[in-house]
Amino acid sequence: MKKNSNEHVWRVLGLESSCDDTAASVLKIVDNNKEKKVEILSSIVFNQNKLHVNFNGVVPEIAARAHCEKIDICTKEALKKASLSIKDIDLISVTSGPGLIGGLLSGVMFAKGLARGLKIPLIGVNHLAAHCFSVKIFHKINFPYLTLLVSGGHCQFLIVKNVDSFVRIGGTIDDAPGECFDKIATFLGIGYPGGPLVEFKSKNGNEDRFSFPKPLMDNTCNMSFSGLKTAVKRETEKLIASQGGLYNEDVKDICASFQKTTSEIFKYKTINAIKFFNNNFEGDKNLAIVGGVAANKKIRHELQQVAFQNNFKYLTVPAQYCTDNAAMIAYLGFEKFILKNHNNLDLVVKPRWPLDQTSTPILGFGKRGAKA
Ligand code: KG4
Ligand code: ZN
Repeated sequence: MKKNSNEHVWRVLGLESSCDDTAASVLKIVDNNKEKKVEILSSIVFNQNKLHVNFNGVVPEIAARAHCEKIDICTKEALKKASLSIKDIDLISVTSGPGLIGGLLSGVMFAKGLARGLKIPLIGVNHLAAHCFSVKIFHKINFPYLTLLVSGGHCQFLIVKNVDSFVRIGGTIDDAPGECFDKIATFLGIGYPGGPLVEFKSKNGNEDRFSFPKPLMDNTCNMSFSGLKTAVKRETEKLIASQGGLYNEDVKDICASFQKTTSEIFKYKTINAIKFFNNNFEGDKNLAIVGGVAANKKIRHELQQVAFQNNFKYLTVPAQYCTDNAAMIAYLGFEKFILKNHNNLDLVVKPRWPLDQTSTPILGFGKRGAKA
């Protein structure tokens, strides 16, 4: 850390390896006691898509081995891009949960080795919390704020109260939306991961051709996506049975209709979440949308409208920081560090680590396993 008069300059290394992206990032944070200026000096992500594509999902052991092989290379690349040496780093922040245990261990053991060798502090952070905090890299925002965290493994409405205080006010009772995008892309034969590919196909599709169900349209903030996914699959099978296959137009229309239905579910449920926030919390009215699915332009656009209509400020991050990255890990680590909330070398990984430890699990939550 460099200290010039009243200014502290921090260089934070973030490491991420909880699922199928190996990522390293270096942030420069200038703290002048009044405000913190964050600059992303580098953010390197090595995705493992090619390794998992034939399995239509992430294979934990393959993921863990790939993290092990790549995490040092990824870190070197992040330092090079930032034009820094490892000795310039003041603090290391690493994802210590939730996620796949082999990947988490790769990252945490590597981070421990570096921290020990460099004699610098080490912070273990919650991956989901880091997604929620990603908006704070780009926006000045006070607690509490309302967040929709929507990714490949998660879908929750949260009130973010502090670095380690979150209230979950609703979430999916079954599949996560990113998982549906991925599965639908797989059975349409357009590739993996599905989110960006379904979005691309939707561009020229007719979003009104198919009318898919929107389950759980009640006054709660809970959501359900598995019936929608099954309905899309049935419609696809019906078309294949009647025509002997799918035309390009069919694929585009299915993608566009599914994407429209998903964004309508989010719109409806975000209005409920806003009402809940207004009735139970005081302070600025901010709506943050984070996680991989928040990269989707249609969903972003629709939720921006909802925020505007309800006098909420709409906050999101550039698409490459919606999906998994290490800049968000470095940033949350820094926020925890300044609260003296850091770990020692006895940091352990937590494959399951709910953000809100007090709310009871949502019924049936998580076909992939209720890791959060
Ligand atoms: O946040 P993330 O990188 O990883 C998890 O923590 O799960 O999210 C990955 C998920 C994948 O399911 C991917 O298909 C989805 O986010 N995704 C998208 C888009 N980009 C990524 N879904 C819809 N539209 C997109 N443009
Ligand atoms: Zn994620």
